[in-house]
Amino acid sequence: MKAKKLVSLALAGAMVFSLGACGSSSSSSSTASSAAGDVVSKSDTTSTAATTSTSTNSGTAITADLSGKKVGISMPTKSLERWNRDGSFLEQQFKSAGADTELTFSDNKIDQQVKDIENLIADNVDLLVVAAIDGESLSNVLADAKDMNIPVISYDRLIMNTDAISYYVSFDNYKVGQLQGQFVIDQLDLDNAGDKTYNIEFTAGDPADNNATYFFNGAMDTLKPYIDKGTLKVPSGQTSFSECGTASWDTTKAMNRMQNILGSYYSDGTQLDVALCSNDSTALGVTQAIESDYAGDNKVIITGQDGDEANLANIIDGKQTMTVYKAVKNETYVTLALGAAILNGEKPDESLISSSGWDFDCTYDTSSYNNGTAVIPSYLLTPTVVTKDNIQKELVDTGYYKMENGYPKAVG
Ligand code: BGC
Repeated sequence: MKAKKLVSLALAGAMVFSLGACGSSSSSSSTASSAAGDVVSKSDTTSTAATTSTSTNSGTAITADLSGKKVGISMPTKSLERWNRDGSFLEQQFKSAGADTELTFSDNKIDQQVKDIENLIADNVDLLVVAAIDGESLSNVLADAKDMNIPVISYDRLIMNTDAISYYVSFDNYKVGQLQGQFVIDQLDLDNAGDKTYNIEFTAGDPADNNATYFFNGAMDTLKPYIDKGTLKVPSGQTSFSECGTASWDTTKAMNRMQNILGSYYSDGTQLDVALCSNDSTALGVTQAIESDYAGDNKVIITGQDGDEANLANIIDGKQTMTVYKAVKNETYVTLALGAAILNGEKPDESLISSSGWDFDCTYDTSSYNNGTAVIPSYLLTPTVVTKDNIQKELVDTGYYKMENGYPKAVG
């Protein structure tokens, strides 16, 4: 079911929660360094169940009372920009509904995330929201969560090979790649290219992240007909996900790989037309490599994903061509609604969307995401293409970013 609607809210029972009430100024919170990971923050808001409704850039305010409930939020790392936003929005959302929250970042270290989740379980959380570093490595710790009857929402990245997760909330990940591929087709007018040929190189994401193959396949499936026809050429010959992947989505690794490609296949003056990058952290490295090691003076089309501030600045400055923006704030609204319904003893389905009042698209999908144990019911949001031409309309006018000295800064 696809929903884009503002409907009056029919809320079950005494649920009063606020989707969009991001302020929780009356709540107390403390921050401390975790043993080995990034910062861990704990909050106690039991006395401040939010019943206020604040209208924001998205969503219609709804209210629920989650006081007395504790939500454990496990994010992968602070080093990739978006997860800071996700962590902080998730905290804000659950706190605004009156829940206690405990937020961990695991420094992109798999063992650390296992420990962090063990600690959240030991701290008696009622619900876990987890964005996995390595989708294959959480089976054991999540089996413990299941034994303790703690429901787990797989956040943004699908957690594989565990029957402990109840739901998946993400964006349409395949669509992200399709949008990048279609953008290239449109920019180069590939359907009318005639005999003209263009050179493209691919940079994919972290093989440990289940999303990465969806992004890559979405882009590759869209562009493959043009590669097969010979309109698009890949001088490096690297067209498989395993050849193009970037461990940890790391900017420096993406830069090094692109420098090698440029040195090996482009130093003779071959023109690079497109660098298809799955996300912004990799696009940043690829842009650096092109600046330092590419001899040509044509403008290379560079794609990305997320709307990281450095990349938006590059888009404004004409160094990166586009990014696929995913409004993570909306992802956290969906997660709160879902989490609240689960904690309320419901079995959420597509009616969660129709009763939500969200003013953004969300699809309930029960076929696409099999995690190796079962198809996981998924709530999928819709990504948007952002270029220099629509940054103002899509990011600033919507309230997600504000302009500071000519560059977008995330509002959070
Ligand atoms: C997310 C992307 C992000 C990447 C690296 C993926 O799982 O869906 O938005 O760019 O991780 O952080």
